[in-house]
Amino acid sequence: MIFCFSGTGNSRYVARELAKTLNEQVIELQGEMLISPMSFNCDMSKEKRFIWVFPIYSWGVPPIVADFIKSAPLNIPQNNCHFMVCTCGDDIGNAHKHWRKLIISRGWYAQCAYSVTMPNTYTLMEGFDVDCKELEQEKLNNAPTRINDIANKIKLGYTSDDVVRGSWAWIKTAIIYPYFKRYCMSPRPFHATDKCTSCGKCAKACPLNNITMSDNRPLWSNKCALCLRCYHICPLHAVAYGKSTKGKGQYKELIHNA
Ligand SMILES: Cc1cc2nc3c(=O)[nH]c(=O)nc-3n(C[C@H](O)[C@H](O)[C@H](O)COP(=O)(O)O)c2cc1C
Ligand code: SF4
Ligand code: SF4
Repeated sequence: MIFCFSGTGNSRYVARELAKTLNEQVIELQGEMLISPMSFNCDMSKEKRFIWVFPIYSWGVPPIVADFIKSAPLNIPQNNCHFMVCTCGDDIGNAHKHWRKLIISRGWYAQCAYSVTMPNTYTLMEGFDVDCKELEQEKLNNAPTRINDIANKIKLGYTSDDVVRGSWAWIKTAIIYPYFKRYCMSPRPFHATDKCTSCGKCAKACPLNNITMSDNRPLWSNKCALCLRCYHICPLHAVAYGKSTKGKGQYKELIHNA
């Protein structure tokens, strides 16, 4: 069984490729099951392995995914194997250790963690933007080989983590991630600029139904994963986050891969 959360399509693509090779089913984490994980109701007792596929957010597990792992009523037998396959733009810090703690806290066995380097999507702070087209394409070209390699390692039962941690891994995950979660994940700065034509695509696409159309303008509420699907999907680049997205790019390659 593959559980997948994806904002802009990278992790969804990885999950679907893994599913084909490993003959697994994908459950996409979205909507009500993320808003109230306690309401998730699915019999997992016959599944043998669980692969968690998600993007890295500030060198940690996206809070919305962490909440699902912590509290969804999954009747998974204790001796089953769990794998993490995350996607990142650059590096994951110690996010694999963060994921392992979450899995162990449920009494499950965290076998192995992998990362796949994919195009960058984070644009909400100074100095952060999408990749240039050449780098974006290079990452997308390298992805199939990497995913195949991970699928083989999962099949063969490897137990050594194979992730890109980058420098200052401990500081990034232990110090910056909690700070980011607390102070940098507010949806309040989201707004539509004058370019908006009220097409409603951002509202329709939000995995948490956090956007409503009011007076022909999108309005953001508080239940936001900061996945940036609304920002990248807008056909007119009319979604802004305060002033920090001014002059930034969009990433569209896999966003419609739903
Ligand atoms: C809120 C946020 C935080 C991110 N933080 C990181 C990070 O710490 N390290 C990294 O390499 N990429 C980071 N990224 C980039 C994504 O992890 C990467 O582009 C991922 O493949 C997106 O997956 P998705 O398309 O499935 O949402 C971040 C993206 C977002 C939206
Ligand atoms: S997708 Fe863009 S143009 Fe369409 S409603 Fe949202 S902000 Fe406006
Ligand atoms: S409001 Fe935008 S950033 Fe927040 S969860 Fe919805 S699509 Fe993602």
